[in-house]
Amino acid sequence: MVKKINIFSCVSCGYESNKWLGKCPSCNEWNSFVEDAKFKGKHAAGEYRNFGETGVMALPEIILSEEERIKTGIIEADRVFGGGIVKGSIVLLGGEPGIGKSTLALMLAGKTAEQGCKVLYISGEESLAQIKMRADRLKISSNNIFLVTETAVEKIAALIEKEKPALVIIDSIQTVYKDGVDSVAGSFTQVRESGAHLLYTAKKTGVPIILIGHVTKDGMIAGPKTLEHMVDAVIYFESEKYLQFRILRAEKNRFGSTNEIGIFEMTDEGLKEVKSPSKMLLENLADEKTGSSIVTVMEGTRALMLEIQALTGRRAYGTPQRTVTGIDYNRFLLILAIMERKIELSLESQDIFVNVAGGIKVNETAADLAVAAAIYSSFTERPVSTKTVFMGELGLDGEVRQVKHLDLRIQEAQRLGFNKCVIPAKSKPGKTEMNIVMIKDIREIAGIIRQ
Ligand code: TYD
Ligand code: MG
Repeated sequence: MVKKINIFSCVSCGYESNKWLGKCPSCNEWNSFVEDAKFKGKHAAGEYRNFGETGVMALPEIILSEEERIKTGIIEADRVFGGGIVKGSIVLLGGEPGIGKSTLALMLAGKTAEQGCKVLYISGEESLAQIKMRADRLKISSNNIFLVTETAVEKIAALIEKEKPALVIIDSIQTVYKDGVDSVAGSFTQVRESGAHLLYTAKKTGVPIILIGHVTKDGMIAGPKTLEHMVDAVIYFESEKYLQFRILRAEKNRFGSTNEIGIFEMTDEGLKEVKSPSKMLLENLADEKTGSSIVTVMEGTRALMLEIQALTGRRAYGTPQRTVTGIDYNRFLLILAIMERKIELSLESQDIFVNVAGGIKVNETAADLAVAAAIYSSFTERPVSTKTVFMGELGLDGEVRQVKHLDLRIQEAQRLGFNKCVIPAKSKPGKTEMNIVMIKDIREIAGIIRQ
């Protein structure tokens, strides 16, 4: 017997209540409750707790099959997956509409199929002809890719069990529905129920499934968000932080690190892997520049070289303007205050603009010293060599503080042809051919940016 219970749940954290609430008591989000229907009985998600195993087993008795991961060969993606897609895992590939999820999924399918593995691409969004057109554009034509348009979760599960592919892609979870669940496809309940069904299928058959889900910035089309706790990995495809690039980032990964990112660029022929983003970002850099400095920031275990630009100019009347893009405004004010007090720069009547080239957002305090160097260079009109890299956090007393992963940052700078690194005093860099300059205090910046 299926009994319907009216229930409301918070779209941002999944908190459930039997009445509508204005503010979620769990995550404090306002107006986040949506009416939902929960099914007690035959359709409850709890039905899928057993993954076909026999019962209690001692840890050493559990035998792992040999080849546990599928390496797609798209290095930028494999890294984010933690070294390949784990068999029997269920991965949520989320992102805004139009970001390139279907393109990436088809490319993953293509590369996997090239290795002789059977891939099943299930679409509820596009017709087979549309997918074929995209595949032509991406030059994918393997005999091992099988396409089907299907949205009923039971039929999808049956197909997976029958076809036994090496990889399944479902585009998208919002189009999948489960019979007997009394709400439309894409709703909170449908996504959760179909997600649970597919999770069960993946675990039982050992077939990995990539579920594509549309997610908006604020997560309000929250269907896929409800799956986050359930799936093995949540991978987001996004572009906001690095406008020029599309970034693949693991938000959760039961089988790997969540620090890694994969960088892509959308071209006419699909997504291109960007193996050396720093090189692209620093193209066309002159040897010397006024109001510019280079910094290395970390993205997971990856070092990225960025250019920070500053422009200062005297304001004849009115309140001076302060505009920043790419760095935190409060951090910028703090750096200005330190510079005014500690190096006695009279910046109060200056219009100051700071920009991170390439439309990138930096949220690392390790960039403080580079921001200060760029402002100092613009204000004093003294050029900085663009072969010099600055890294260091500024303390309120003007002291230059240590940064993490110093060696990785220095290595990347050396690899890209930089010859001088300005780093915090007392750092212990490994062996390097770079000219290392250690500074203890922001006051020493004047000695580095000479006339
Ligand atoms: P798509 O993968 O359909 O996005 P999503 O599935 O996330 O909604 O593609 C997004 C955009 O990428 C689309 O506007 C067209 C563009 N695009 C290219 O520029 N080059 C290409 O080779 C392909 C396939 C798409
Ligand atoms: Mg799509």
